[in-house]
Amino acid sequence: MSNQNKFMQWIDDRFPATKVWNEHLAQYYAPKNFNFWYFFGSLALLVLVNQILTGIWLTMNYDPTAAGAYASVESYIMRDVDWGWLLRYMHSTGASAFFVVVYLHMFRGLLYGSFRKPRELVWLFGMIIFVLLMAEAFMGYLLPWGNMSLWGAQVIINLFSAVPGYGEQIVEWIRGDYNISGATLTRFFALHVVALPMALLLMVFLHIVALHKVGSNNPDGIDIKKHKDENGIPLDGIPFHPYYTVKDIVGVAGFLFIFCAIIFFAPEMGGYFLEPPNFTPADSLKTPAHIAPVWYFTPFYSVLRAVPDQALGVLAMGASLVVLFFLPWLDRCQVISMRYRHWSHKLWLGLFVIAFFVLGYLGMKAPTDARTLVAQIATTYYFAFFLLMPWWSQWGATKPVPERVTD
Ligand code: HEM
Repeated sequence: MSNQNKFMQWIDDRFPATKVWNEHLAQYYAPKNFNFWYFFGSLALLVLVNQILTGIWLTMNYDPTAAGAYASVESYIMRDVDWGWLLRYMHSTGASAFFVVVYLHMFRGLLYGSFRKPRELVWLFGMIIFVLLMAEAFMGYLLPWGNMSLWGAQVIINLFSAVPGYGEQIVEWIRGDYNISGATLTRFFALHVVALPMALLLMVFLHIVALHKVGSNNPDGIDIKKHKDENGIPLDGIPFHPYYTVKDIVGVAGFLFIFCAIIFFAPEMGGYFLEPPNFTPADSLKTPAHIAPVWYFTPFYSVLRAVPDQALGVLAMGASLVVLFFLPWLDRCQVISMRYRHWSHKLWLGLFVIAFFVLGYLGMKAPTDARTLVAQIATTYYFAFFLLMPWWSQWGATKPVPERVTD
């Protein structure tokens, strides 16, 4: 036995290293027809690692106090700390990149029915990740203590005042003060750098454990375990390592190309990734002319504003997230992938994507009567898509589904 083998044997006698490697990589059989849409899971992992690493180094130089936060970011980190500007832009661009990647990852699920039996838990863990990610981004946004940080947080935290009876108490409890203050900043800091990242890592771990228990879906939406060779290996499966570890490098290269281009040439992304009012320090006496959340929250913010009554608006916004959790039980089509469904299903999904973009666009704009009307139509469609799904997903003839995956 070579020294290397002896060493591995010593480890394996004490820790299941080779067993885990084989079960989850070298002998984990994934469908051989993964396409472009399957890059986004590994990219989400990449962005998660980027956020954690750049976040650790930012924390080394950040001052979580109302007096020092703004200067520690805009002056100290951006100008004095070696490569601080790069760490900051990697983290701020990473936040937007996270949502781009996760939205595309979720859309893949809609397209191929990846949330359907037996992957309900994969989807539910994914949805918990999504909600945690929103909380993480919201709290992180307060930390630079710019004027939009303060007023954005003010608007969102105040939404909780809509809770009947206890609204004001809840709002005060979240802020830790009668206004958004240093107390709010330090607790958001603690949650953003410790509690939420830990919860996110745990949920991502469970997401992948659940996925590996049932195996990945694929663009054809068929079960590759139905056809196995004499050794019990799926005929349409290939080992995840080296085939997909290598293929994922293509996605990583494409992603990094765009990511670096943004960091080096347009880190503010025209005010979409870093908003102009955030280049002035937080000031509770100076309300920005137009308060809008960062782009990734705007579809849900639009739902909130589409409803004239504030309490009902908050309820509608909450419902627009909650309804996503029920997706595995709303879709009743006998075929899971869009590829083999009736054209009307593709139309429902296509219109849903348009409604989501329209809501996202309107959420960034100041409301006018016409815009509110369009937001109301898009919101109605958003809910109709989900609530009528048990009906429309059974509608129309499906195409014959192949026995084996197609290339
Ligand atoms: C930090 C965020 C996330 C990470 C790191 C992550 C990671 C992954 C990875 C590595 C895979 C396997 C590769 C792939 O199929 O692309 C996967 C699959 C999956 N993820 Fe996520 N995910 C995240 C968020 C989400 C969210 C928010 C949802 C939906 C609510 C979701 C739903 C799914 C589903 C349904 C699959 C199975 C896809 C299939 O087999 O076709 N994930 N995820």
